[in-house]
Amino acid sequence: MAEQKATNITWHEGSVSRQERQKLMNQKGVTVWMTGLSASGKSTIACILEQMLLNRKKQAYRLDGDNIRHGLNKNLGFSAEDRAENIRRIGEVAKLFADAGVIAITSFISPYLKDRDAVRASAGTGEFIEVYVKVSLEAAEQRDPKGLYKKARAGQIKGFTGIDDPYEAPTKAEIVIDTETTKPDAAAKQILDYLERGGYLAA
Ligand code: ADX
Repeated sequence: MAEQKATNITWHEGSVSRQERQKLMNQKGVTVWMTGLSASGKSTIACILEQMLLNRKKQAYRLDGDNIRHGLNKNLGFSAEDRAENIRRIGEVAKLFADAGVIAITSFISPYLKDRDAVRASAGTGEFIEVYVKVSLEAAEQRDPKGLYKKARAGQIKGFTGIDDPYEAPTKAEIVIDTETTKPDAAAKQILDYLERGGYLAA
């Protein structure tokens, strides 16, 4: 939990409600939270899902770990504290997007259960969908698209998730996708179907 530092601040309520925004956009804002090891396929699935939603005339926006760490979170590293702050900020940003009526798709390793659960707890009921993008460490290491596992094994990167840093798998994810047996298109479709069934693609 981040410390509340500012004092003498007052919440200012607007006149446009979340429901009104949703009606305007004919969809419901929600956070689709993808978690999994590096190279599990989170970003690939997120891109396809975003495109599928756009094709359906639904507004979605991707927040991606590697990208966000170039800007908003460029001052954060990979210690447990920095990862917690990374996830907390993204949780807050996704919440703003969802409040605006947009489907926020996040792809962060987010290795700690308690950090993900804190984001879940701060979202409204039904406004946080956890997607466990599952892959074995062996398969992730074999893919190694950025050559990072190799560097981690060689000791050139310290504290790499799955090698010498923990990954705590979800215990209550709404959706579990095994990317060793499911292709990215099918995985994105699985999430799209969940959104459809859940009534998120209509107001
Ligand atoms: S998280 O753990 O805080 O959620 P995030 O998803 O933002 O991580 O960033 C992970 C990405 O940063 C990886 O895909 C990889 O490209 C890069 N990276 C660099 N160092 C590390 C590390 N020590 N552990 C994990 N990923 C790392």
